[in-house]
Amino acid sequence: MDDSIIRGFSKYSKPQRIEALIQKYNFKADLGKWLGSFELTDPVTQKIIADLSENQVSNFHLPFSIAPNFVVNGHNMFFPLVSEESSVVAALSNAAGFWAARGGFHAEVLGTEKKGQVHFKWKGKVEKLRLLFPEIKERLLAESAFLMTKMVERGGGIISLELKEMNHVLPEYFQVDAGFQTCDAMGANFINTCLEQLSKSLQGYFRISDKVSDEEQDCEIIMAILSNYSPDSQVRAWVECPVTGLLEGKSQEENRLFVRKFEEAILISQSDIWRAVTHNKGIFNGIDALSMATGNDFRAIEASGHAFAARNGSYSGLTDVKVKDGKFKFSIELAMAVGVVGGVTGVHPMSKLALRMLGNPSAPELMMYLAVAGLASNFGAVKALVSIGIQKGHMKMHLNNIMNQLNIPEEKRPEIQLYFQDKTSSYSAVEQYWKNHKDE
Ligand code: MEV
Repeated sequence: MDDSIIRGFSKYSKPQRIEALIQKYNFKADLGKWLGSFELTDPVTQKIIADLSENQVSNFHLPFSIAPNFVVNGHNMFFPLVSEESSVVAALSNAAGFWAARGGFHAEVLGTEKKGQVHFKWKGKVEKLRLLFPEIKERLLAESAFLMTKMVERGGGIISLELKEMNHVLPEYFQVDAGFQTCDAMGANFINTCLEQLSKSLQGYFRISDKVSDEEQDCEIIMAILSNYSPDSQVRAWVECPVTGLLEGKSQEENRLFVRKFEEAILISQSDIWRAVTHNKGIFNGIDALSMATGNDFRAIEASGHAFAARNGSYSGLTDVKVKDGKFKFSIELAMAVGVVGGVTGVHPMSKLALRMLGNPSAPELMMYLAVAGLASNFGAVKALVSIGIQKGHMKMHLNNIMNQLNIPEEKRPEIQLYFQDKTSSYSAVEQYWKNHKDE
């Protein structure tokens, strides 16, 4: 393998990038043809996809799937989902159908404020900065107004600027903590642009103010960046039904046993980090799949969600269940920043379609749908965990992947599915079965 350092790789043409790949790994000379087979024939759309990232050499495909029967606040829709995990769509579809027959999902947005900070160092006294801050704030707002015009027209912009004293972290360290409304945009670019402008104005203030000494003229900006923690951009979703209506065709006793175990599973997720992480991972199976399909930044959504899960000082499951007066109510609260304009949402043809399927929602509406996807995914997982176990459903989906890997012809698959219905379908077990029965 050639281990020399490559400089200027981003300036290579695509054939040069592929050639470098061939040289580095000794791949066959026709690698480019193979990589090209994953690309689109329509050059305009292919360019859109390729331009999403630097150094592109091919496309990486994932299934774009549909989970029907999502009834949210009375509207029945298909959820568009992108996931590499075979059981995610099945779990969401089942949960959607289950709750569609029980009044559907309910959701509401509790806030949409996002935050960012200018982290800076200043040599003066805390008390003095506190006194100067109203004047500083006025200057910061006035000098960033030019960036705000369009956002203000849409009802957004900077909604708060506060001074935070951070001397407990570093000597002379402060923050300007800024709150934003970004309407239907996730707002990352807008917020970061504003914060960089606020940094400049802050430094400008100290440089020219006659209220600061020579020593105090220097303000060092450490960094200016949005926070992906968005506890004031909050959404809640829930489902409810009579306890006796949970498991169709089952006795009251069986329903009660199911509910007790369900409650215990939620309590465990709220009390034990080992379970909480997996519990929340399952929630994000649904949220990520819907955020990917709609071109949203699922890392930002996950980061905020996991931080929110630790907001009370210890990491906890994000869902809750209450059983009262014979009613089962299952809910989720989440903090997230999402967008339906800007970024990939308006560029990727599949994201545009996904948003159309959701009725071209506003950002707050999309927050509700994401919370619903998380709740549905979690309901499916916990329901299976406390009843039949998770592997039955998982392995059924997994079996398809194994059969694909083994190139088993379509007509032979039902027989294999039947055989593995009540058995563990590991790769080696399926391979062995196939070897023994191939020629029958
Ligand atoms: C698997 O992707 C997700 C689950 O592990 C979630 C859970 O345990 O709640 C099934």
